[in-house]
Amino acid sequence: MTDQQPHHPDAPEAEPGRPIPARHVFGGLPTYAAGKPPRVVEGLRQFKLSSNENPLGPVPSVRRALEEFDAATHLYPDPLATRLRTALAGSLGVPAEDIVAGAGSYGALTQIISTFAGQAESGEPDEVVYAWRSFEAYPIIVGLGGARSVQVPFTPEGEHDLDAMAAAVTERTRVILLCSPNNPTGPALTADRVEAFMSRVPDDVVVVLDEAYLEFCEASELTERERAEGGLAEGVALYRRHPNLVVLRTFSKAAGLAGLRVGYSISHPAITRTLRVAATPFSVSSLAEECAVAAVEHPGEIREQVSWIVAERERVVAGLRRIGWEVPVTRANFVWLALGERTAEFAAFAEENALSVRAFHPDGVRASIGEEEANTRLLELCERFASRAGGQGPAGR
Ligand SMILES: Cc1ncc(COP(=O)(O)O)c(C=O)c1O
Repeated sequence: MTDQQPHHPDAPEAEPGRPIPARHVFGGLPTYAAGKPPRVVEGLRQFKLSSNENPLGPVPSVRRALEEFDAATHLYPDPLATRLRTALAGSLGVPAEDIVAGAGSYGALTQIISTFAGQAESGEPDEVVYAWRSFEAYPIIVGLGGARSVQVPFTPEGEHDLDAMAAAVTERTRVILLCSPNNPTGPALTADRVEAFMSRVPDDVVVVLDEAYLEFCEASELTERERAEGGLAEGVALYRRHPNLVVLRTFSKAAGLAGLRVGYSISHPAITRTLRVAATPFSVSSLAEECAVAAVEHPGEIREQVSWIVAERERVVAGLRRIGWEVPVTRANFVWLALGERTAEFAAFAEENALSVRAFHPDGVRASIGEEEANTRLLELCERFASRAGGQGPAGR
């Protein structure tokens, strides 16, 4: 066998380009636009600030795990990721059976949506409620299964409008997605607000708390309001009290394992039982599991990196506010620039200066916290952009 099979001379030519219709749900689906790489600009080092990646790379223990990995690539990985779930169970104080791993939290979320939301027997779409803007994969994952997205606009502060979200729940609602901190705006939900929200949600509706950026909250100094509202919501505490709550977590952000694809959910057995059926078998590779275990076993190393990123984030936020730009409180590893109609113009300006940021036209730009030089350049560009626009920055928050 060779890679290239020669075309048999007598075989009929396949008709090129005849469209093969996909399922009808594809009609209205947006395409996931991954963060663009930065443009090459002579004399400038390039930085990618468009995917909320950890700029510091793997921590020393993960590097060691990578070097020492026994490459048994002919064997399937453990389909249940038992070592990882056991390590997580120990560090989080939850039963290992309550954890379901997936290929990133994207994979874990896909399990949840395909388990609970699609089309009812009548053919009517189920509904999934979430704030908008939020993680741009939500509409895709929801729509693929045939469910309908109910998007509730965030408040002017870039926060979830939990009252409006509770009011949007109907008898068709099967799942609610809460993203805390919210990608791309940055604020995190407080404990008291989520608790009050949960009391308004029927207990047969699954509430997913997406904590992809949780670790950056833990290193953040809280505002007075956040403290007054019981501190920031914490998924594990909520899951202990609410059998319909699913916590979603990832190793892609704080732990710097985005390239290995490993995440997980935590929920009660009534939910995990069905999630395991929906899970793609073997979706967490042995290498990903090994590195994730190393990260779980060395929380101090992760905390050190997270503290550095949070300190840089605060420097960026302070720098933006100094030039008069209004930015929402961010508890993640990115900042939100509500540039409205000037979103594309700013993104192009950043690109000309070898920075790639994420443009969400016509709402704003999300810039990840990167290396020190990248963050400094971002601040300089914001200042130059503002003076070009007669001192104007993001109009509202
Ligand atoms: C809020 C949120 N959830 C989930 C994910 C998915 O991340 P991953 O699949 O790498 O765990 C992301 C990635 O950017 C995200 O921002």
